[in-house]
Amino acid sequence: MDIRLIPNKKINGVFHINGYRIKKARNGCDYLVLSLSLEHIIIRGYIWNDCSSILKNLLETNLVIIEGIVKELYEQYIIDITSITPFKKDDTKVNIKDISGGLFRLLNSIEDTYCRRLIDLFIKDQEFLKKFIQYPAGLNIHHNRYGGLLEHTYRVMYQSYLTHMAYKEVFNRDLLLTGAFLHDVGKVIELSQDNNSYTDEGRLLGHINLGIMMVNEKISNIKGFPNKLALSIRHMIASHHGIKRGSDVAPKTAEALILHRIDGLDIMMDKLKMIQKCNGWSAYDNVLQTEVYFG
Ligand SMILES: [Fe+2]
Ligand SMILES: [Fe+2]
Repeated sequence: MDIRLIPNKKINGVFHINGYRIKKARNGCDYLVLSLSLEHIIIRGYIWNDCSSILKNLLETNLVIIEGIVKELYEQYIIDITSITPFKKDDTKVNIKDISGGLFRLLNSIEDTYCRRLIDLFIKDQEFLKKFIQYPAGLNIHHNRYGGLLEHTYRVMYQSYLTHMAYKEVFNRDLLLTGAFLHDVGKVIELSQDNNSYTDEGRLLGHINLGIMMVNEKISNIKGFPNKLALSIRHMIASHHGIKRGSDVAPKTAEALILHRIDGLDIMMDKLKMIQKCNGWSAYDNVLQTEVYFG
């Protein structure tokens, strides 16, 4: 598999389809534009011929094996696709196994009885777990690929673990790790099954409210769950975006403040990994609020 972006060179790999559009060329023929992602790459792919029959074959899957030529269009790299076929998940390049192993190890290190019981209810919920492992973390802003929600959650948890190693006395480790695990769980309801759109619940309530509702439902099944702990966890979810990124409340506990910063850091890191470069510079990025120079 060669996933380097070199103009006029061949590229092939297993890409996640984030979305697509059928457009009309000047000659009246339809062509297909796909938004694709693969690890650090996010790129548009173009199919110029026979796009309606290709589209039919792609409706059942979000993962496709793509071959094509890298070209430049309006100062951005694109893939001129020569071959596209649905991909069987058994062959996935996304390292779901390693990432989920790391996430479960961190979860298993949590000692607080009630945090453990709450987490166990999520992990034992097979419908939730399947979506949590496979869904992207979003459609546009960050980790918008197969397994992205798992990857983002793991990285936020791992950063939480490292932060605790450096500042043991400043905050409660179990609480931060629990909040890190739960902060984006609402995304399994916010995003549709095909991962190409938001659900009605997602559009009307958003993943923060949905996540709090999911946590409330699980807590209601745990007898004697401490009110103060429940409030702390809800607050971490409610405030993790901070006011600037759309939370209703600013983080007001040590754990919530740290989670907010780590969440933002991981989004920034993913952007830096995925951003397209052209002549040493990226285009202006709305999330980073700058163009980036790579030298
Ligand atoms: Fe979030
Ligand atoms: Fe997040």
